[in-house]
Amino acid sequence: MKQGLRDIIYNTVIEANEKVTPGSVEKVVARAAGIHRKTVRLAIRDLVGLGELSYTYLYGTSFLEKSFDRPVRVSKRIVIKPPHKAYQAQPGEVVVDIAAGAAFGNGAHPTTCLALRALDSILGDNRYAERKVPLNGLDVGTGTGVLAIASAKLGVQKVIAIDLDSCSVSEATHNVSLNGLADQVTVTNTSLQELATYFTVVVANLAYPTLRRLSPLLSEKMEQDGVLVLSGFKEPASKDLGKTYTEQGFGLIREETDREWVCLVLQRGSPEHR
Ligand SMILES: C[S@@+](CC[C@H](N)C(=O)[O-])C[C@H]1O[C@@H](n2cnc3c(N)ncnc32)[C@H](O)[C@@H]1O
Repeated sequence: MKQGLRDIIYNTVIEANEKVTPGSVEKVVARAAGIHRKTVRLAIRDLVGLGELSYTYLYGTSFLEKSFDRPVRVSKRIVIKPPHKAYQAQPGEVVVDIAAGAAFGNGAHPTTCLALRALDSILGDNRYAERKVPLNGLDVGTGTGVLAIASAKLGVQKVIAIDLDSCSVSEATHNVSLNGLADQVTVTNTSLQELATYFTVVVANLAYPTLRRLSPLLSEKMEQDGVLVLSGFKEPASKDLGKTYTEQGFGLIREETDREWVCLVLQRGSPEHR
């Protein structure tokens, strides 16, 4: 029961769409499992003691999050770590430093992990081996900058990371510097509409209605054969988004799910749409 309860708590925390407080987790889990809140509180403390979860503090409120106070592997090649922790990277590994903060994107959420796994796969499959011109990347809704930083470290020469939230722009700029990528990754609050570049690799971890609304613009901003990674939604939104982007001339090349969350990888103008 003890481990079962810990699993329920852990999943409740990492599957939440927003930051959760210890109190809200206690309440939800106690109600779902039909047990006393104090039992849940003790199990939360165990998980923190075991280094699985950690307490974070923001604007006077405590939150409970998956612990990233240690290096965590999130895909075949990508390891995310806090800047103050040392990590000896193995050959081929890509290490992304993300400072603790308020922006979304410390790697704990399945939507971020799915997008990172998709980037790792498409940028590692020799698709661009013969390419003579530099790859241009775009991260729409960059949060901490994690996807933009990973794209750059996986070989995208120039990356633009946009976010409409000023706190995210500031944190992402800091994380880009921490990773020594200030010359390669530009973080800005410029809107998608205003960008004048065409992109080869685009990643967008955004809510379903936003991804739906942005479909014509995203299509317009992409190079022919460019690859688009969409994350941030569940079924049945996935079906509708697949259809929406197919109508914009994209072909589906990969689909992956993680705890109900779905990630679609699409290619603009892939063979069946030419
Ligand atoms: C779910 S978070 C993703 C963060 C990070 N890219 C990741 O994958 O973990 C979505 C981010 O998109 C930003 N955002 C939402 N709508 C946007 C839009 N239309 N244009 C740019 N950024 C947007 C939010 O401020 C937030 O930082």
